Amino acid sequence: MKKLLIFITLFVIFILYSAIVYTSGTQGVAANEKATEGKLIFQKYNCTACHQLYGLGGYLGTDLTSLISQHGKGELYAKAILKTGTPRMPDFHLKDEEIDALIEFLKYVDTTTITYKNKI
Ligand code: HEC
Repeated sequence: MKKLLIFITLFVIFILYSAIVYTSGTQGVAANEKATEGKLIFQKYNCTACHQLYGLGGYLGTDLTSLISQHGKGELYAKAILKTGTPRMPDFHLKDEEIDALIEFLKYVDTTTITYKNKI
């Protein structure tokens, strides 16, 4: 009888826990819609053809993983490059909203890494 009671209690806890994880467990990840939009723009313009994230991608451009927190670079710098392009990087004629979304995505990526951060 005691075993049955323990089983039922654990089973109920398992069901409740699963329900919570299943319905709201990933809300934190989906919360930043702007970053998600930026990720799609990053894919649409195939930025990885020339840039790496986490070391993966093309090698014509730099690794953008921790660009936002890099000394001497950061948000404004990235915005300026995205607005005008450079002699080596094409100007994609991005709209301001697209640039903002891309920056939001790069900021998010930056929060997931400590690469280089403590070295500069
Ligand atoms: C054709 C290759 C190419 C593509 C595609 C490309 N870039 Fe670049 N990007 C470069 C190169 C090369 C540089 C270095 C610029 C220089 O030194 O003139 C650069 C520089 C940058 C920088 C400054 C990085 C730094 O460390 O100084 C950012 C930010 C950037 N690109 C973002 C993007 C984003 C976002 C996309 C997609 C919308 C993109 N790039 C697509 C080639 C590319």
